Amino acid sequence: MIKLRNVSYVYMQGGPFEKTALDNINLEIDRGEFIGIIGHTGSGKSTLIQMLNGLLKPSSGGIEVAGVNLTDKKTNLRDVRFKVGLVMQYPEYQLFEETVFKDIAFGPKNMGLDDDEIKKRVEFAANTVGLAPELLEKSPFDLSGGQMRRAAIAGVLAMEPTVLILDEPTAGLDPAGRDEILYKIKDMHERMNMTVLLVSHSMEDVAKLADRILVMNSGHVEMFDTPERVFKNADRLSEIGLNVPQVTRITDGLRKLGMPLHEGIYTINDAVYCITNALRGEGR
Ligand SMILES: Nc1ncnc2c1ncn2[C@@H]1O[C@H](COP(=O)(O)OP(=O)(O)OP(=O)(O)O)[C@@H](O)[C@H]1O
Ligand SMILES: [Mg+2]
Repeated sequence: MIKLRNVSYVYMQGGPFEKTALDNINLEIDRGEFIGIIGHTGSGKSTLIQMLNGLLKPSSGGIEVAGVNLTDKKTNLRDVRFKVGLVMQYPEYQLFEETVFKDIAFGPKNMGLDDDEIKKRVEFAANTVGLAPELLEKSPFDLSGGQMRRAAIAGVLAMEPTVLILDEPTAGLDPAGRDEILYKIKDMHERMNMTVLLVSHSMEDVAKLADRILVMNSGHVEMFDTPERVFKNADRLSEIGLNVPQVTRITDGLRKLGMPLHEGIYTINDAVYCITNALRGEGR
């Protein structure tokens, strides 16, 4: 679904503040995968995902998404934006319509869908992100920060993109709201076989949701593997400014104290199962 070959991105190329944000990235992501993207601040996460819907053009290398070659000059990026939905960091700043309904409907309308279909999609997307129907006729600027964030996410979901990319979508939301939105996205991913890329600072969230985790480090791919294999490398992750989920820290600690637990335990269920077994093994 997504293929990057030798992709580099340089900001302000040739200028005195030239900055290589991405250096020779090679990646392949399959249809229907849920990918978590983690990395220290400035590691290149946002730069990487903005290239996947054509918002940024790579300085060199090739990108293919949903069968479309993004680096071919003849490619119509408008069509790509319908297939690849991108929720940027702090998307609430992009709301601009008179009403929340119109804002969420903006994408579907541009896609040329009829009014009934648009209405259906807006209502579905609003419900998915937990926006009450009575808010749809309000101005987006009368909403709370959390509601604005939800409206912005709904606008992208309403396009039902083949690839959904979210850059820290829940940063600053309360924990209950955060879990609710992430589970709804996971649910959409499963029902529609949507490919999802989620940038997050929460190891807990990526551990819970992702099939594979992409670890970025100063413009390079540091690791790209299953949560279990990534979270086995607690020491390396800590060297590059990242940590492992709390449950991994606890089970790593118990193992160091002598409990026979395997490395890379990253879910509470797995931890309970392994610890119970270990205690049984000791005849307790
Ligand atoms: N518009 C820009 N102009 C110049 N340099 C930039 C620009 N945007 C990002 N950079 C630089 O490129 C590098 C990668 O930035 P990027 O925003 O992709 O990181 P990130 O992993 O998304 O960080 P964060 O976790 O803080 O969002 C950083 O060194 C950053 O300072
Ligand atoms: Mg970023």
